[in-house]
Amino acid sequence: MIPKETVDEILGTARVDEVVGDFVNLKKRGANLLGLCPFHNEKTPSFTVSPSKGIYKCFGCGEAGSAVNFIMQHEQYTYPEALKYLANKYNIEIEEEEQTAEQIQAANEKESLFLVTQFAAEYFHKQLLESEDGRAIGLSYFKERGFRESTIEKFNLGYNPDSWEAFTKAALDKGYKLEYLEKTGMTIVKDDGKKRFDRFKGRVIFPIHNISGRAIAFGGRTLSADKKIAKYLNSPESDIYYKSRVLYGLHLAKRKIVEQDNCFLVEGYTDVISLHQNGVENVVASSGTSLTEDQIRLIKRYTQNITILFDGDTAGIKAAFRGIDMILEEGMNVKVLSFPEGEDPDSFAMNRSEDELTSFLNEEAQDFIRYKTSLLLAEVGNDPIKRANLIKSIVGSIALIPDTIARSVYVQECSDLMEIGEQALMSELNKVRRKRLNQKNKELQRQQQAEDTAPPPSEADMPLDPYNVQEDSKPTSTTPLAFQERDVIRTLVKFGNEKFQLAGEQEDEAIELTVAEYLIFEMEQDQLSIDDGDLRKVYEIFQKAVDEERAVDENELVSNSDQTISSIAIECLMDKYSLSMNWEEKHNIITIKEEEILQHKVHKGICSWRLNKVQQMIQEKQESLKDRKEEYEDIIAEILRLEEAKKALAKELGRIILR
Ligand code: CTP
Ligand code: MN
Repeated sequence: MIPKETVDEILGTARVDEVVGDFVNLKKRGANLLGLCPFHNEKTPSFTVSPSKGIYKCFGCGEAGSAVNFIMQHEQYTYPEALKYLANKYNIEIEEEEQTAEQIQAANEKESLFLVTQFAAEYFHKQLLESEDGRAIGLSYFKERGFRESTIEKFNLGYNPDSWEAFTKAALDKGYKLEYLEKTGMTIVKDDGKKRFDRFKGRVIFPIHNISGRAIAFGGRTLSADKKIAKYLNSPESDIYYKSRVLYGLHLAKRKIVEQDNCFLVEGYTDVISLHQNGVENVVASSGTSLTEDQIRLIKRYTQNITILFDGDTAGIKAAFRGIDMILEEGMNVKVLSFPEGEDPDSFAMNRSEDELTSFLNEEAQDFIRYKTSLLLAEVGNDPIKRANLIKSIVGSIALIPDTIARSVYVQECSDLMEIGEQALMSELNKVRRKRLNQKNKELQRQQQAEDTAPPPSEADMPLDPYNVQEDSKPTSTTPLAFQERDVIRTLVKFGNEKFQLAGEQEDEAIELTVAEYLIFEMEQDQLSIDDGDLRKVYEIFQKAVDEERAVDENELVSNSDQTISSIAIECLMDKYSLSMNWEEKHNIITIKEEEILQHKVHKGICSWRLNKVQQMIQEKQESLKDRKEEYEDIIAEILRLEEAKKALAKELGRIILR
């Protein structure tokens, strides 16, 4: 358990723009920040962050929340895990005892995988630096490679001792379950658990981290020169490690990628590490697999520009062409750069000064389409068939670029390079595009048909669409009371702490109280309650605060550990008046107006709500008259009382509306 004061400190310190900014490239847009939503795939940004309100909302997919919610959602963390992440980010100390064996067992499955992987990373690192073999074999290997100690620390490199189950035993002794050691692939289990051995036995270790820097897998390099032994072994995929969604080094690179507005893409661990050591930090590796769509989108969160670094041979580059087309399709700008014969980014960086490296990277990077054209052109010579194929291939790439202007610039340029008329290229290009469009349409139709036959989503599943919000707030259910209950809650959340003037009979009898006090007093007076269970939770927070004569802190709502409370609060805060692209500039009048009419509105709202509630109670009483003979008198008396209240309310409401 994290002590309450620490939770408050964390929630008070964490700034949603900073927290989200670690994962999403945000641009200022009026009072808000805007970026590409990390929760769904989109080409134009609709992910909005409001630093002043401490919340984010995607107007595309409906995801919304506070800094804590963002971390929970993005990293798939529990509430306490998200708090720990934030505490770590803001250097807030959490006083918690070390995990006991029982706690380790109790953690849920995925968290168990994280924990055992984290343990392994620490164990391997410690072995490298502190054990005799680790130092003599592993550490001296890294040093020979030219890795400095600070680099070894930064990448948390390690060593798995050269004995069958050194690591496995250490982990089991600490209370980690064999099940998780096997699921993360660090232990290989044979003969129903009788035989077990370390996957990375005798290898130096490169831990692989997710974006937030948690270890999720490992790469292990053999130190043996034996050609029959695999040079690199990697962790198998697990619930915390999906190869296609991970880029090696991204957690260390993301800030620099945004800063430099470019991401270098290399092949492997050693390339990333050597570039870092030589001052280039905006670099990631796809590690083994060819680049995937998910990986491209990961990069796209931070920049539109990718520079792919290749070893000297052109075969590798040509093999990568298909992958590069995918990047173009995402609308990103691709440059490629090939190193001199026999060199890879690792060796090149190690043998050059920082200046030599950076100027090489800056000067040698070439636009991909131009590069592809000249590379293929050099190969085809005068063979007309090959030439025709080349043109098709280049046009195929250009056709993928979503931007019209960029496309026509490339057509111009390639027409020069390939010595072929612009018109001919253009018409070929349009043919390709039309064909693709047709394919896309067919796909869409197929999807549409599939959706049409599926049952419609229930209303509760729909995200609250800010552009569809009615004058007040959208009810989740259609009964008038539910609508008004929601309105009461929305008023509480948005204006609960504002001052409210309650006019007395005489001018000088006016009393001042907060909107929350007014609403809650009025409701208690009539013994009204909120029927909707979720809304009632929010109501009760205000009720308690009014009892204790204090204001409700916005964090208490939007960062509440109860997801239903936090999402209701966020929906209320993120309505169309307060937040959308540049609503505040464009629609200032509305915002101000709502504040002005607040006084009027709250009063009117509560009156009409009470009226409805009373009406409903009268109906209920009348129903109960039918079968409860003995209480007849009581019920009649109650109905009369309610009728009185109804009259008074109707009168009051009429007065407000007429005014
Ligand atoms: N790599 C890999 N699997 C392999 C070979 C290479 O994942 N079987 C990746 C590694 O990430 C490595 C990068 O490609 O960092 C570079 O490959 P290579 O130069 O062969 O590896 P090094 O460890 O640098 O080996 P050497 O010292 O022989 O250059
Ligand atoms: Mn190498």
